[in-house]
Amino acid sequence: MAFLKVALLAALPLAYAQSSTPTNPGYSIPQGTPFPDTTYPNATVPYAVAGAQSNQTSPPEYPSPWGEGLGDWGAAYAQAKAFVSQLTLTEKVNLTTGTSWEGEQCVGNTGAIPRLAFKAMCMEDSPLGVRFADFASAFPAGVSIASTWDRSLFYLRGYDMGSEQRDKGVDVQLGPVVGPIGRAPEGGRNWEGFSPDPYLSGIAVAETIKGMQNAGIMACTKHYILNEQEHYRQPSDIPASSSNLDDRTMHELYLWPFADAVKAGTASVMCSYQQINNSYGCQNSYTLNRLLKNELGFQGFVMSDWSAQHSGVSSALAGLDQTMPGDIGFDSGTSYWGANLTIAVLNGTIPQWRLDDMAIRIMAGYYYVDRQSNQVADAPNFSAWTQDTFGFKNFYASEDYTQVNWHVDVTREHAIDIRTMAAKGTVLLKNTGGLPLTGKEKLTTVFGSDAAENVWGPNGCPDRGCDNGTLAMGWGSGTANFPYLITPLEAIKAEVRSNGGFFEDVIDDAAYTQASALARRVGQPGIGGACIVFANSDGGEGFIIYDYNEGDRNNLTLWHNSDMMIQTVTEQCNNTIVVMHTIGPVIVDAWYENPNVTAIVWAGIPGQESGNAITDILYGKVNPGGKTPFTWGASRGSYGTDLLYEPNAGSSAPQDNFQEGVFIDYRAFDRSGETPIFEFGFGLSYTTFAYSNLQVQAQSVAPYAPTTGQTTAAPTYGTVSNRTADYVFPPNFHKVEAYIYPYLNSTSLRASSGDPLYAQNYTFPAGGYDGSAQPYLAAGSSTTPGGNTQLYDVMFTVSATITNTGEVVGDEVPQLYISLGGPENPKVVLRGFDRLTIAPGATATFTSEITRRDLSNWDVASQNWVISSAPKTVYVGSSSRTLPLSQSLNINACYNGGSPAPAPAPSSPAPASSGAPVSQLSDGQVQTTSAW
Ligand code: BGC
Ligand code: BGC
Repeated sequence: MAFLKVALLAALPLAYAQSSTPTNPGYSIPQGTPFPDTTYPNATVPYAVAGAQSNQTSPPEYPSPWGEGLGDWGAAYAQAKAFVSQLTLTEKVNLTTGTSWEGEQCVGNTGAIPRLAFKAMCMEDSPLGVRFADFASAFPAGVSIASTWDRSLFYLRGYDMGSEQRDKGVDVQLGPVVGPIGRAPEGGRNWEGFSPDPYLSGIAVAETIKGMQNAGIMACTKHYILNEQEHYRQPSDIPASSSNLDDRTMHELYLWPFADAVKAGTASVMCSYQQINNSYGCQNSYTLNRLLKNELGFQGFVMSDWSAQHSGVSSALAGLDQTMPGDIGFDSGTSYWGANLTIAVLNGTIPQWRLDDMAIRIMAGYYYVDRQSNQVADAPNFSAWTQDTFGFKNFYASEDYTQVNWHVDVTREHAIDIRTMAAKGTVLLKNTGGLPLTGKEKLTTVFGSDAAENVWGPNGCPDRGCDNGTLAMGWGSGTANFPYLITPLEAIKAEVRSNGGFFEDVIDDAAYTQASALARRVGQPGIGGACIVFANSDGGEGFIIYDYNEGDRNNLTLWHNSDMMIQTVTEQCNNTIVVMHTIGPVIVDAWYENPNVTAIVWAGIPGQESGNAITDILYGKVNPGGKTPFTWGASRGSYGTDLLYEPNAGSSAPQDNFQEGVFIDYRAFDRSGETPIFEFGFGLSYTTFAYSNLQVQAQSVAPYAPTTGQTTAAPTYGTVSNRTADYVFPPNFHKVEAYIYPYLNSTSLRASSGDPLYAQNYTFPAGGYDGSAQPYLAAGSSTTPGGNTQLYDVMFTVSATITNTGEVVGDEVPQLYISLGGPENPKVVLRGFDRLTIAPGATATFTSEITRRDLSNWDVASQNWVISSAPKTVYVGSSSRTLPLSQSLNINACYNGGSPAPAPAPSSPAPASSGAPVSQLSDGQVQTTSAW
């Protein structure tokens, strides 16, 4: 019964309890200016150089802020209060606690409230579809939708996915993902999220959430926060690892997209497995109570990742609102909450207002997305645990045999959207004339297993945990079953034959002899055609180990020895086109400059329409316009960040020190001065674009004012009878095996807890019980979620003219970057983009707004955002390193009534053609160099 001790008594957030003397392992700070000492404010260990050190601690922050119905949550809160006020203690507990792993049909299920005909809530993966369901769609992964840089597609994908979840009877879709953000390219789950750039991730997550929730289901933005690797994410024989970082990096990089998610109204947030500054993600009072619920003003509920809860009272006081799947270990029959939460409220170790706040937040999320009007018959009309029509509702216990799958086709017209999204997310990285194919090629050849079927079927590997056949999804819980998977092989072959061409392929990755012979035929005078080599690189969630990759990738090279296949083909064929399906960057050093490689395409993680989408691109039916949402470096070391593959603290928690601060991905390359192979934001088209006429208009804003004022006192909803007898299991109650109930075994709280240490003298954090009115934070808001409302004041509007200087219609993604100035800032940071379709010879106007937040740094001392006095420059161009237009920003003009647009700065005369030239930013100047 040791777990009950932990449940009720022992587990404070680790940081709070930890008093051992930390050791400074004497890290040397990487080259350049050290980022400043931005150790968490009031952290017990003030470091001299950097906040991200081993044994960093996370300061206690109590009480847990109660939801108030800020912003557009008012109506939802009113409905939630009316509902929750009627509930008994055990009914409230039922909302907060999952009923156990595989206890019912979804990956997570709450208890029901039968008295009020309120059915159990269904929580279902994934961020790209309805996990485990049949007759549902497999959408492009986050990384592929990010590479469209298209807000309307971000929204559409969210809406389509949300519609499918709704039609299957799901209440909460377990996505989208912005953690991992992608600190290190090896991270196994990076592809579930969008981009290592927080701005792009932030826009993508916000639009996705709006789409999902407008379809009538709740989003669950995850994993909060710093879950940047799979290794050591959960405790095993050692505690889970701790991601250690400073306050400034927290705000400017990792928290940034979560702020956008909160502002967009995400109904829930999933707290993460690993520790943050040595306090577990689901009981870290600093990240949950302070950052998420106070500073960002989050009004929805915090759900634990699966078995990420490690304490009962402590996690409640630290801000957790719902535990999933409810049991301590999968099917242990025990829970930190359930009956133990009932007991904790009755014995006063959890105040009623905290339980009521959990319930209100959960129900407010429900009403916020109008769940009550979006119900379907027989919900959930599928089972995550069997594809048979009939099965057990209580799957683990093998009870209640009935119909569990209705096989409802929820796909609507989504296949068309998926094909569009996948094609628009495809990035053309190199093109010396290999593309587009004309359809007149006499002999078209395809190489590599990545073009073909998994011979076990598209769903032949559970949770896609293998790398057989074409890669259209990574592995883990972030998956869905393919309703079908169009392979590149079948789509290209069909295209070739429709044009009367000839087609052969070699899909065995080791059949070099055959591949060489086939490629040789294409190269013969009088034949001609194309050799298309498909290659991939896979990864996923750590509960599956494939080919020695424990979720995270062990390296950044192409799988199946595809470098060798590329070499084999290029030795014979001078028109070799390389297509890659990868979850992130790979090393292309060995072959990307080979003149026989006439085109390189990154086709991302495209989902079910893979083959159709790549064929649309290869044959120019869709002009590529995607831009890479991450940097392609020459080597693994180029990134300056890596994962922790070996424990580094003995039997203590591995210490994962984010010492690079905000310098990840392109910010790292810009800082170290290393030239990437393909820079962030880069992508070619079959046409070319010119940039001109940058206009910058200062807008009038009021000076930034810290938020002041106080919350209400903690409200309670309804009365909780303290008659213990009211909460004992009803007579003759049938208990389902391993199922988690809110009821007590007897009227004795001590006996019901089963804990030999029950009521042992123990000091919980005093502030955790303080239900008096609390001050809002300066960077927070008393009116709307998302932080201080003035952060979103528009300070500048920017426009530029983009001209299609080529022969065909095409899409361009103009990007706006800002140099915030000063040695501690990245050279430039992304702060705007749009995707424009432009006819040949025509021009389009790119417009973008720069907000106060976009110009600010996090100031640790004042605990607020500030616009530094360093000079600031805005850049517009076609990638993070092709920035032909620039102008300095006169911040003062914004405080003096705004200003007319100053004369445009002289811009680079050479249009930034998406073909050969690549510009490099150096000291704010544009320099044109030739890359390919
Ligand atoms: C994953 C979550 C997922 C959950 C339920 C966890 O292991 O980290 O992303 O939603 O399982 O499957
Ligand atoms: C489940 C996942 C879950 C994981 C937790 C797996 O068995 O399929 O949904 O995320 O366990 O480790």
